[in-house]
Amino acid sequence: MSDSIILGIESSCDDTSAAIIKGNCILSNIAANQAIHKEYGGVVPELASRAHQQNIIPVVEKSITKANIQQNAISAIGFTRGPGLLGSLLVGTSFAKSLAMSLNVPLIEVNHLQAHILAHFIEDANPMPPQFPFLCLTVSGGHTMIVLVKDYFDMEIIGKTIDDAAGEAFDKIGKIFDLDYPAGPIIDRLAKEGNPDAFTFNKPRMENYDYSFSGIKTSVLYFIQKEVRKNPDFIKENLNDLCASVQRTIVEILMAKLEKAAKELNVKEVAIAGGVSANSALRKAMEDNHEKLGWNIYIPKFEYTTDNAAMIAMVAQLKYERGEFTDMKTSATAKYDL
Ligand code: KG4
Ligand code: ZN
Repeated sequence: MSDSIILGIESSCDDTSAAIIKGNCILSNIAANQAIHKEYGGVVPELASRAHQQNIIPVVEKSITKANIQQNAISAIGFTRGPGLLGSLLVGTSFAKSLAMSLNVPLIEVNHLQAHILAHFIEDANPMPPQFPFLCLTVSGGHTMIVLVKDYFDMEIIGKTIDDAAGEAFDKIGKIFDLDYPAGPIIDRLAKEGNPDAFTFNKPRMENYDYSFSGIKTSVLYFIQKEVRKNPDFIKENLNDLCASVQRTIVEILMAKLEKAAKELNVKEVAIAGGVSANSALRKAMEDNHEKLGWNIYIPKFEYTTDNAAMIAMVAQLKYERGEFTDMKTSATAKYDL
């Protein structure tokens, strides 16, 4: 891999992030998280795009300072073109375009989902990078899919959710429990003190490698409504057990399809990616399958799980080597296939 220095910019949802990569080594990875959405229990697109506008310059400046490089050492600028919230993507896209123009360097568009997966090729992401072909369970707030990764830019979605994403299920169920947004990490923490077998929730019966998570949300909602009628303090008194049981159910649903795919496709290289890959029960289930099924597993470092620009810079580096540049006339896109 060349040791060119590239700036990556991520602004697809509610994190403004900038990172500097040299070869596949991350020199800086800065993120400004938008606390404002907590008050609304979810991401408010207009507020997100306004916060990106406020954050982008200081975040990019900080990434350059932290990397200890001069602006003129940057060989190219990578940015998230999609998928994501259009207003948010527009901020990163316009900024990347103007900076590339003023520095007179190539512009490189990056698919956010590919970036979650290719984050595994960052130097310190794994002791060894995954070998092609590998399976990657890509689980975030907006997406849940099993991807067969045949090469860096040859990916096939073999199964995906037909409704809610797994992260969305964590967040919506967290809302029922009156937890802050995003609830995924909070449920993970509370589950540590709970009994995962305390409550049982229905699991979907889906064809092939597809998922569905709207049923579990409804099943939790009805169960809670029924119990709260009998005891108004039911959630408070059982919060740890509720979180542990919900987490167990979601992880079992995710793993069952991943195991089926690994077995039927005869692939033993298995990775997870995306925000939900930070979940401790999911990580533990992967480790168990390394022991039980002999999988070679790839679990991202925490800083590369939720949205970050390091993964964007990584993809930009791979495209830079291939000479895949983007025209300055490009625009952001809310939908963007793998
Ligand atoms: O990849 P990401 O940062 O943004 C999207 O592209 O969607 O993923 C965010 C999602 C949220 O739904 C959040 O609740 C979930 O990842 N998440 C977790 C954990 N950490 C983040 N879900 C379960 N357990 C966690 N530890
Ligand atoms: Zn993401």
